[in-house]
Amino acid sequence: MSPEAALAGVRVVIDAGPTYEDIDPVRFLGNRSSGKMGFAVAAAAVAAGAEVTLVAGPVALVTPPGVARRIDVRSALEMRDAVLAAVRDADIFIATAAVADWRVAEYSTHKIKKGPSGAPVLELVENPDILAEVAAGNPRPFVVGFAAETDHVTEHGREKLVRKRLDMLAANHVNENLGIGADDNALELIWAGGSETLPRASKSELARTLVARIAAHYRDRCPTE
Ligand code: PMT
Repeated sequence: MSPEAALAGVRVVIDAGPTYEDIDPVRFLGNRSSGKMGFAVAAAAVAAGAEVTLVAGPVALVTPPGVARRIDVRSALEMRDAVLAAVRDADIFIATAAVADWRVAEYSTHKIKKGPSGAPVLELVENPDILAEVAAGNPRPFVVGFAAETDHVTEHGREKLVRKRLDMLAANHVNENLGIGADDNALELIWAGGSETLPRASKSELARTLVARIAAHYRDRCPTE
């Protein structure tokens, strides 16, 4: 099958970028994800013939040409709602987003003021794990997770693959100039029967290889699709 047709007729949902968890009308908790990896995966999936829905956190990126639908969200809860609605009709879900693990327990509708009693103490509550929720669905799409790791990339990645019941996982080597926020990445692609190292390259180049591997595994799993 040619690379342009590897995902012909396949509906793919991709989440991308960070989430922002508002503290008050002027402050939020966020992270350094730029959305570049997820947008590159979206462009590569379009090039492979897929119908792509892109659920984007707050990023400053232009929608790749050919993306069928882009849904912009801000918080993890908004991203969860958008992803769960979109995957109802999807064949493949690829979770590249850096979803905030926590949000504040109580949003303050007024700007929190400095005062004589010192710095405020923020109580945090855990956000739902969107990827694990999609993977626990029945029926469910073919599910590909990402993982940002600084060490023991393959071991930590394989642990997440099993715990979250994923079909594949792309583990990143992250440091100051690689992975999050950067133009380049390096991936360890892991699945139940093996793994493959995708060495450092631009996110666009890596996304093309990643999408080709996802398409091959998806076709093996669902040969009639
Ligand atoms: O956006 P860029 O600047 O291009 O950077 C790309 C990236 C480094 C953010 C991306 O390649 C990446 O690694 N994304 C996943 C980062 C992450 O949050 O990893 P994690 O190990 O915390 O989460 C594991 C998986 O669970 C991820 O697929 C994540 O999307 C998902 N998750 C995590 C928490 C949560 N509440 N819901 C989730 O769906």
